Amino acid sequence: MKTNSSEFIKSAFQETDWPREPLPEIAFLGRSNVGKSSLINSLLKVHGLARTSSTPGRTQSLNFFLIDNRFRFVDLPGYGYARVPRIIKSTWGEMATSYLAKRASLVLSIHIVDSRHEPTTLDLQLHEWLDCQSQPRLIVATKSDKLSNNELRKSIERAQRAFKNDKVVPYSAKTGRGRDEVWRQIEAAITNYQKQR
Ligand code: GTP
Ligand code: MG
Repeated sequence: MKTNSSEFIKSAFQETDWPREPLPEIAFLGRSNVGKSSLINSLLKVHGLARTSSTPGRTQSLNFFLIDNRFRFVDLPGYGYARVPRIIKSTWGEMATSYLAKRASLVLSIHIVDSRHEPTTLDLQLHEWLDCQSQPRLIVATKSDKLSNNELRKSIERAQRAFKNDKVVPYSAKTGRGRDEVWRQIEAAITNYQKQR
């Protein structure tokens, strides 16, 4: 998928900051430092649009990006990083889950996990919580360039089992692997949402 324009709109620390115009939104969530911001940049092919860092806990608010004046990407803060000050750690749950539970224009939650590691307890808890919300979601296993094909296959199978046989898409922000598949799912979610309105 080719996008023509993408721009950062705003950081939101509370509900009153969320953009008002009801465009479809795709949320990116996952553990701290897993590669959420890199996935956004790689999908849009824009370097540095979403700020990335080797220091976990970089993204600490909901960051909204407008794509082609048609839909938005929402970069959520990462969870599970112990060195983030406690106040921020405790607001994660509130800020992210309130967005995920309340946002009427949320069309797809992209749950990002690290393809090198077994899903963590928090990954599984989030998956279960999303499952209960019964909203469209997609699991993406990123950093796949760090594994051999054989290791990757095993790791995807393991993740699929852990996530109750939900589809897990291997991805790499470095090589672009999985990009077309993720775009297909995003487009399908947007189309679906528009049909229902
Ligand atoms: P927080 O906002 O701090 O929670 O992090 P994040 O989930 O947004 O992660 P970010 O995109 O900042 O990436 C973290 C680190 O992982 C950076 O050093 C990235 O360059 C690296 N990284 C992300 N995706 C990939 C990938 O697909 N392959 C490789 N090799 N490195 C990646
Ligand atoms: Mg980030």
